[in-house]
Amino acid sequence: MQDLQQQLQKAEQRNEKLEEKLEQANAKIRETSSTQNDMAIEKEKLKVQLSHTAKLQSKLDEEKSALQKNLNEMSGDVIMKRAERERMLQELAEMKTLQQRVQDQQQEIARLKGRTMGEMDSVRGENISLKQRVQFLESKNPELEQIIKELRLKQREDMKIRRKLHNKIMELKGNIRVFCRVRPFLMTEEPIGVFKFPSYEKVDVKTDNGVNSYEFNRIFQPTDTQEDIFIEVQEVVQSALDGYNVCMFAYGQTSSGKTYTMEGANFVDHKRGLIPRSVEKIFAEIQDFNLRGWEYEIKMSALQIYNEDIYDLLTPHEERKKLKLQFGKENDVKIHDLKQVVVNCPQDIHPLLKEANRNRATGSTDANAQSSRSHSVFTLYLKGTNAQTRESMSSRLCLVDLAGSERLKHSNAQGDRLRETQNINKSLHHLKTVIKEIGSKNKHIGYRNSKLTSVLRPSLAGDSKVLMVTFFSDEFDCFFFEILNLHVIFEQ
Ligand SMILES: Nc1ncnc2c1ncn2[C@@H]1O[C@H](COP(=O)(O)OP(=O)(O)OP(=O)(O)O)[C@@H](O)[C@H]1O
Ligand SMILES: [Mg+2]
Repeated sequence: MQDLQQQLQKAEQRNEKLEEKLEQANAKIRETSSTQNDMAIEKEKLKVQLSHTAKLQSKLDEEKSALQKNLNEMSGDVIMKRAERERMLQELAEMKTLQQRVQDQQQEIARLKGRTMGEMDSVRGENISLKQRVQFLESKNPELEQIIKELRLKQREDMKIRRKLHNKIMELKGNIRVFCRVRPFLMTEEPIGVFKFPSYEKVDVKTDNGVNSYEFNRIFQPTDTQEDIFIEVQEVVQSALDGYNVCMFAYGQTSSGKTYTMEGANFVDHKRGLIPRSVEKIFAEIQDFNLRGWEYEIKMSALQIYNEDIYDLLTPHEERKKLKLQFGKENDVKIHDLKQVVVNCPQDIHPLLKEANRNRATGSTDANAQSSRSHSVFTLYLKGTNAQTRESMSSRLCLVDLAGSERLKHSNAQGDRLRETQNINKSLHHLKTVIKEIGSKNKHIGYRNSKLTSVLRPSLAGDSKVLMVTFFSDEFDCFFFEILNLHVIFEQ
């Protein structure tokens, strides 16, 4: 029992302790719950505070972003202001330089002003003396006008005298003259050395029967150039400018250089022939005439006579038709539908010559691969008027590239080629006869016997100038001596 009492006692003690502890725990719980209450209150307070703070925060954020925006705007402004400042500084520097320059220029102006004033004084002085001089000259004006008038008159008279003298020289030399050109050997030929040239007018020809001499008005050797020939030929071109009709022929054996001499290997360089050179000379000369009040119109035509028919060489071959002749009064001859093209400068004839070449009848013979099988006639018509002096002139310059004389056997001609060759030789024979008749001053001249002489009648008749250039290659044929003897035929 004691034990139990002791145990009870102990349990009571323990209970007391526990109650004490419970009391303590309750006190603690009470304390804790009061603290909890406090804390809940505090939490509520804090919640209120938190929502307040959140609001504050969002307000602050708004203010911050507004401020940030402001800041951005302000920094943009600052950049612009800085750039503006830089630009203004630069402008200021430029203005300073300009200011300096203006100052320099003002100094220069002041210096020039000083000089100009001095010069103006001297110009004023000169002006006065010039005025005095003008007054003096004006008083002399009627006298001077009279002198100028007399000088113009004298110049016209001198021109007439020069023309007359030139014509006299031409007449003395012979209205019909014969030149001779011996062409150089071609690469394909064997030189046989037939010709010797003791002088400009004499040629020695070596034959089986010895050496024979022939005389011409001028002889050109194989070494002579196109230029050398034109120098001698240009005086008849001058006659055309002076108002005389001129006819220049290239006559000779086939392949002896007639087309080469008349047209040239081309129309531009040193190999250009007599036709382009004559046109150049005419245009060069009329410049001088223009200064004296002359106005010129220059036209060109080109025709060929093939098998006794006339064709325009400036009309394409496909459209070609036979042209008709009509004999007018005196020595006038009209060729219907023949094109006359206005030529304004020397270069204008180049396409015309090319066109004429395309349309000309050529063929290959045994002697020449590009043989001209027709006679071609290039004519330049010159018409001049002088409004000041009321003078006028007209003339024509015919440049004729004849078809080559050819031995029928040599040319191996048959059929059409035979007819061509016969026609060529026949018309050449008539040409020689007509020129002989002109030289002998016959009353009747047989112009109408061939188309060639009919076409050329205006350029052969009257006081026309005729220049026959004969051509030779270093080869004998039956025409060789006949052509060499032309100088005798044409002697007046
Ligand atoms: N002075 C020259 N210098 C160099 N070559 C020339 C000379 N003369 C003619 N020839 C050449 O000789 C050849 C024959 O000349 P061209 O055709 O002018 O003869 P042609 O007398 O007109 O002959 P055809 O009567 O057959 O028409 C051509 O190849 C030409 O280039
Ligand atoms: Mg020819």
